[in-house]
Amino acid sequence: MEQPPFSVIPLSKDNVREGFCSGSEALDHYFSAQVGQDIKRNITNCFIAVDNVNQQTAGYYTLSAAQIPLPGLPKEIARKMPRYDAVPASRIGRLAVDRRYQGKGIGSALIADALLRSSHSSMAVYALLVDAKNEQAEAFYLHHGFIPCIGALHTLFLPLKTISKI
Ligand SMILES: CC(C)(COP(=O)(O)OP(=O)(O)OC[C@H]1O[C@@H](n2cnc3c(N)ncnc32)[C@H](O)[C@@H]1OP(=O)(O)O)[C@@H](O)C(=O)NCCC(=O)NCCS
Repeated sequence: MEQPPFSVIPLSKDNVREGFCSGSEALDHYFSAQVGQDIKRNITNCFIAVDNVNQQTAGYYTLSAAQIPLPGLPKEIARKMPRYDAVPASRIGRLAVDRRYQGKGIGSALIADALLRSSHSSMAVYALLVDAKNEQAEAFYLHHGFIPCIGALHTLFLPLKTISKI
């Protein structure tokens, strides 16, 4: 059977992190210098898209537990929720695709992977939350159907039930 061009796997010590260049200095620096420490301390998990031809890291995202305060949900959604203070979520804290691989659907594939992993969790997860670093990133998430949270600039969510539509 033919191998797919990319695989999404948990980041390990064997994967190349140096030289990753998405065009966002902050996201590149985090990936090459900091993410390992955060994984060790159970602050985040990190998943990468690997080019199966040359083993290069084409993209990454981080995933952690989170919650959305009920007032952060639009009224029409919040009114269908139980009267808890917050609903459970998982959070993509960072997501970036190397410039050489942008425009090939890897960003979308990483979002789909985060939705799948969240829905397979033993913990209940209502939605996937994202922190968009700027307006361009926000436009990317809006394009994928994410809904802006109320009162939290550049934070958006996507209910996991959306997964069946992807
Ligand atoms: C934003 C980013 C993650 C997109 O990744 P990518 O792999 O190039 O995007 P994809 O090829 O998966 O694009 C999928 C779809 O999103 C659309 N899209 C991509 N970037 C977009 C943007 N900034 N705004 C709106 N739509 C966008 C594409 O047109 C495509 O649409 P289609 O499926 O309808 O044809 C990537 O450009 C990047 O890493 N940028 C620098 C870092 C950054 O801004 N990260 C954002 C998270 S904080």
